[in-house]
Formats: sequence, structure tokens, C-alpha cells
Amino acid sequence: MELDSFDLTDPRTYQETDIHAMWRRFRAERPVHRHPETEAGPAFWVLSRYADVMAVYKDDDRFHSERGNVLATLLYGSDSAAGKMLAVTDGPRHAAIRKLMLKSFSPRALSHISEQVVQRTRRLLAEAVERGEADFAKDVAEHIPISTICDLLGVPEADRTFLLGLNKQALSSDSADQSAQDAWLARNEILMYFSELAEARRADPVDDVISVLATGEVDGKPLSEDEIVLNCYSLILGGDETSRLSMIGSLVALMEHPEQWRRLREREVTVESAVEEVLRWTSPAMHFGRRALTDVEIGGETIAEGDIVTLWNTSANRDELVFDRPEVFDLGRTPNKHVSFGYGPHFCLGAYLGRVEINAMLDALRTAVVHVERTSAPVQPVFSNFLNGLGSLPVRFQPDRQGLGQWR
Ligand code: HEM
Repeated sequence: MELDSFDLTDPRTYQETDIHAMWRRFRAERPVHRHPETEAGPAFWVLSRYADVMAVYKDDDRFHSERGNVLATLLYGSDSAAGKMLAVTDGPRHAAIRKLMLKSFSPRALSHISEQVVQRTRRLLAEAVERGEADFAKDVAEHIPISTICDLLGVPEADRTFLLGLNKQALSSDSADQSAQDAWLARNEILMYFSELAEARRADPVDDVISVLATGEVDGKPLSEDEIVLNCYSLILGGDETSRLSMIGSLVALMEHPEQWRRLREREVTVESAVEEVLRWTSPAMHFGRRALTDVEIGGETIAEGDIVTLWNTSANRDELVFDRPEVFDLGRTPNKHVSFGYGPHFCLGAYLGRVEINAMLDALRTAVVHVERTSAPVQPVFSNFLNGLGSLPVRFQPDRQGLGQWR
């Protein structure tokens, strides 16, 4: 197949193609590729080599996020949260809001939340393992990141079912035929909810991210209402599906690589190194993107001012110029400088928390499960040109009674 014929804007491409074979070809034959115009929008650049992807992530002088940082918004031409939400804000304003939010994301600030992640993961996994058969995606993984974000934001217990319901409606990647208008309405309701909660926290601040945003100041002035609300929502946008898909992907990879499952269970590798390999292997966010602010030459091609440039983590994480035997899933891999959390000024704010979540899951699996296999029920891949992974994963567990006993 001609490289020009791969339509990277079409979610079906990721379901119908051997994408790692495709990316191998792009890296070798056309590492700086001009993707033709499609029904979804104008032409754009596709960078597949690690070095080029890193160079653009680092360079916020010449590449901006304010006109979108994923294909959907870049092709549309703008992002409605531009200049307000961290991921789509650049320059000093971005640095100032990021600094404010970082307070809530340090390992020390997160120690209580991390402990809750471990307990929640054990409880959900133990229930599923005891039942024997479960949908690992829906019964276990789905509940962990969103509950963790609610903990972080300080969403009261009583409001969680309501918020989780809205969030499900707001997700556009769950199915191919979801109404865009329903998703839009649900997103607006979430923003309204955060607006009310911020109001309450401004009057009576507690130790949570909404209070930090609602009472924080930049250059002596409080953040705008939009900045507060959108940055609350950005934690759901950034931290829910990505973490969930990496956890689901970790189980798929372990089932497909019995030798690695053995190494994990028999403590031949540390959970910390396994987490990094899971992140590299699953690359839950397939790409991010930028707009060029000026003409830039990359790999002999001239990216013109205003052009859209997409950075493919999925490909960079398997670049044979950087990773030794990149097609091998090796839980003991060192070094492992994957780009799953991006790099540079927009490096994932929730990277530590994402690692805590995957760590808790791998540790719980190696403790509570002897063996796990897929049932004959079909799996459901997410339908997206941005996210990679499965929305459902029916499995059968063989419990480790001794391990489960340690949690009682
Ligand atoms: C940014 C991936 C978990 C919140 C990013 C970026 C990547 C990424 C690649 C950079 C985007 C860019 O350069 O345009 C992931 C992955 C995760 C994960 C793979 C899980 C495995 C989380 C969690 C949270 C979070 C748990 C919060 C609770 C954010 C935020 C940003 C971000 C707020 C924007 C940072 C900025 O622009 O300064 N994430 N993320 N992420 N992520 Fe994550």
C-alpha cells in the first residue's frame, strides 16, 4: 500500500491496519510525511521518528498548542479552550498556571491519593478475581482513574455518580455512532458543575485542586472563571481514558507474553520498570500536535508557518534508532525513555499519578492472580484517531488465594 493512502484522520485505519508495520515504513521511508488533505480537513505533517517528535515537543518557541494539540482541533482550526486550559495555552500564562497546579501534583501532595489508588485497585480487582469471569475494562480499570481524579479535585462522594454518568456521555471515543450533540451537552454540564463547586471552594477552601485554582493568583490577579473550570475539566480529559487504556493494555500485553507475566509474578523485574514498558508498549495517546509559528526545516522538508505538525508517540516509542529490539515487550527494559507522557513544557502534569495507577494495577495483578486468559466474548477497540486500546476486555481469572489473603 502507498504511504499516501493511509488516512491517519480516520479511526478505522487504526482498527484495520497493522499499525506498527505501517509506522515502521513511515520511519524508514518517509519520516517527515506530508499527509494529504482529507474529508476531515487540510493537509498536515506526520513525524514518526523519536528525534523529530522530541525536537518539536521541546520547541514551544516555534511550535504552539493554542490552535489545538490533537488532530481533531488542529484540523478544525481552533480549540475553544485556547489560552485558558493548560494543554492549549502557551508562553508565560501557561507557565504560571502550570506552576500553580503543580503544587497539587507533587509526590508528597499526592501521597494520600496514591494510597487510595492502591486500596481501590485491590478492592476492584479482588472482586473481579473472586467472581472468576469479568470484563477487566468495565468492571475494574474503568473505575480507577476517574475516581482518582474526583479525589484529586475534591468532588464530594454524593456527586460522583452524577459526574461519572455525564463523563461517559461526554466521551466521544466509546462508540462510532454517539451523537456529537449529546457529548457537547454533557461536557457543558460538567463545566457548570465545576463552576458551582469552584464557587463553594472559593468561599471555603480545602485541600484539593479546585480550591488551589479557585483561590490561586497569577500576577496578583485571580484566575478567570473559564480558567478555573476548564483546568478542572482538563484533568478528566487528560487523566481518565489515558490511564484506563494503559491499564487495560497492560493486561492484554501480559496475556500475550506469558514469559513476561512469569517474570512479573516471580519478582524477577521491578514493578517500576514494568510500568515504563507498559507505557511504551501501549502508548495510549497515539499522537499530539502543534502549529508551526514560523518556517522550520525538519529532515530536509520545510514546514511552513501555520502548518499543522503531528507527533506520533506510537511510532517514536518503537523507533529502532533509540530502542533496542523495540518490537519486544520486555518488562526489564533499561533504559526506557519513552515519550508516552510527551516532553518539554507540556510534559504530562499527571505523569506521576498515571504511574501510580499502573503501578498499583501491576502490583495487584501479580499478587491476586495466578493465571488470566481471554474468554471467547469479543473485545471492543476504542474508535479514535487519538486514543489507542480496548473499551472492553472479558477475561477469566485463576485467583492466587494466598495473595488475596494478604489483603484481608
Ligand atoms: C499532558 C499523556 C495521565 C493530566 C499530557 C501529554 C501527554 C499525556 C502525551 C502532553 C500533551 C501535549 O504535549 O500536547 C498521558 C498519559 C497518561 C496521562 C499516557 C496515563 C497513562 C494523566 C493524568 C492526568 C493528566 C492522570 C491528571 C490527573 C494532563 C494535563 C496535561 C497533560 C493537565 C497538560 C499539561 C500541560 O499542557 O502543561 N498527558 N497523560 N494526564 N496531562 Fe497527561
